[in-house]
Amino acid sequence: MTESDTRTTHFGFKTVEEDQKAGMVHGVFTRVANRYDIMNDVMSAGIHRLWKDAMMDWLAPRPGQKLLDVAGGTGDVSFRFLKRAPGAAATVLDMTESMLVEGRKRAEAESLAEQLSWVAGDAMALPFQDNTFDVYTISFGIRNVTRIQDALSEAYRVLKPGGRLMVLEFSQLPNPALQWAYDRYSFNVIPAMGQIVAGDRDSYQYLVESIRRFPDQETFAGMIRAAGFEQVKYRNLTMGVAALHSGWKI
Ligand SMILES: C[S@@+](CC[C@H](N)C(=O)[O-])C[C@H]1O[C@@H](n2cnc3c(N)ncnc32)[C@H](O)[C@@H]1O
Repeated sequence: MTESDTRTTHFGFKTVEEDQKAGMVHGVFTRVANRYDIMNDVMSAGIHRLWKDAMMDWLAPRPGQKLLDVAGGTGDVSFRFLKRAPGAAATVLDMTESMLVEGRKRAEAESLAEQLSWVAGDAMALPFQDNTFDVYTISFGIRNVTRIQDALSEAYRVLKPGGRLMVLEFSQLPNPALQWAYDRYSFNVIPAMGQIVAGDRDSYQYLVESIRRFPDQETFAGMIRAAGFEQVKYRNLTMGVAALHSGWKI
């Protein structure tokens, strides 16, 4: 490969070679895994719990469904899904083993271990057959994936016809004054909190930069449609700090 063939992407505000990004993201989540859940509560003042509940309200899990929770980390979304859908089964896939280790401990504690499987893997090359799952979720994960469009195509492939995709991700505030205030909070407070609570400023600097780089609601909806999904809709959460996107494989 010549130098001009080298494809680049972004890691927060840095430009990196495409094949370096996954290793860097893996490094971030390996470092934060054992403080991940507490940091989520601290940084969002617990609001991420309300967003995940809103995701479940819109998704309306049904008994017996098979969920694939990609970039599922410590299992937050899968636990909520299983608690609402008796007899359902969930597969949590994540590329960072230490996040899955933390999730397994929580599953034991919540007596949900039997309905769960934990798989180390990449959202861009899912180790599952076509038409396997009823529901595909990805919560605060897609922003970290090197080629987002590839991950969306994989979501489409592994869903059964009639299956549903739901994405929870940080987004953009449509009001410029609020976006300005939110940026001040993000860039000044979150990395400092990361240093104090998790002893890791850089990982939280990456977090806020990656949020700012992620496409706005309409652009992301277009990417979901481009992967083949229909009836694509979105809902803003907390004025657009986060958004839920839904699509169907018809
Ligand atoms: C912010 S955490 C989200 C965890 C969980 N879904 C939640 O909402 O709390 C992001 C997760 O995405 C995972 N991840 C990033 N890129 C990935 C990829 N290409 N394939 C699979 N997992 C990935 C990371 O390892 C990390 O566990």
